[in-house]
Amino acid sequence: MKDYTFEDYKALIEQHLMDFIPEVDHKSITLYEAMKYSLAAGGKRIRPVLLLAACDFCGGNVEEALPYACAIEYIHTYSLIHDDLPCMDDDDLRRGLPTNHKVYGEAMAVLAGDGLLTTAFEAMNRDMIFYFDNAEALKKRVKASYEIGKGSGCRGMVAGQVADMEAEDKSSSKEMLDYIHLTKTSALIVAAVRAGAYLGNADSEKLDNLTVFAENLGLAFQIRDDILDVEGQEEEMGKKAGMDSINKKATYPSLHGLESSRERLEELTQTAIGALEKYYDNAEVFTKLAEQLAVRGN
Ligand code: IPE
Ligand code: IPE
Ligand code: MG
Ligand code: MG
Ligand code: MG
Repeated sequence: MKDYTFEDYKALIEQHLMDFIPEVDHKSITLYEAMKYSLAAGGKRIRPVLLLAACDFCGGNVEEALPYACAIEYIHTYSLIHDDLPCMDDDDLRRGLPTNHKVYGEAMAVLAGDGLLTTAFEAMNRDMIFYFDNAEALKKRVKASYEIGKGSGCRGMVAGQVADMEAEDKSSSKEMLDYIHLTKTSALIVAAVRAGAYLGNADSEKLDNLTVFAENLGLAFQIRDDILDVEGQEEEMGKKAGMDSINKKATYPSLHGLESSRERLEELTQTAIGALEKYYDNAEVFTKLAEQLAVRGN
């Protein structure tokens, strides 16, 4: 296992993030620029880092996991571009810059999102083609790609975004709110960790423990996001605060209040960390990250 920190994994992602974006000719340059605009704007890169860290933790080769790590960041970035559209959350600031549709227009923002989503699967499939004659190597890649498809699609992020939109302007149950958060946000975080674990040939116990970690971390992550929308600083977050109340979203602070949202966040963070307790220092990159994300300002 590499003795990598969060920053080391992140640096590797930054270095390779554009590698799998197809070369384009001048006829499709706007699409390319719009995709690149949102990708290059930055972001914490939590999901690809988790994928690489999980692969590494399970004994896999980090460099070989890069197409899958970049793919998940493409999917996440597409989800942000679409999330910000006027027909969804109507946001005009993201990753410290004007949102994609503010710069390129709505049609191009929809298409840049489509481009990022499809490129993710192109990148993973292209990688699989290299392993056609090696069943073992191919199998773990197919599993990783399946996890990513599942987490980002109709049983994961997209379903969550639908439930989030349908919950606007009305009162939701606490159970519904957890469903929204577990699908729109946790599912992709779970997918990142499970895809990485498969690529690292994880045994079933490690896979299960990492999954429990990621589910709890994912819910905690969205609760922190909801709290930041109430009390965060625009300059630090790189996105507008106060949008959830304008959009009348179902959020943790709106349903549970700030105090019990903070308690729940802490509880989930501890449960996440507890899931990897038995691995002591070997799981430090995960446990440190969970602690940092619980108090993050962006
Ligand atoms: C924002 O995700 C959307 C949520 C699921 C809360 P991040 O907070 O990971 O956004 P970036 O990638 O750092 O910009
Ligand atoms: C976003 O949730 C979840 C996604 C799948 C993009 P939010 O709508 O709360 O994310 P932000 O606050 O705009 O980043
Ligand atoms: Mg949203
Ligand atoms: Mg939003
Ligand atoms: Mg939010």
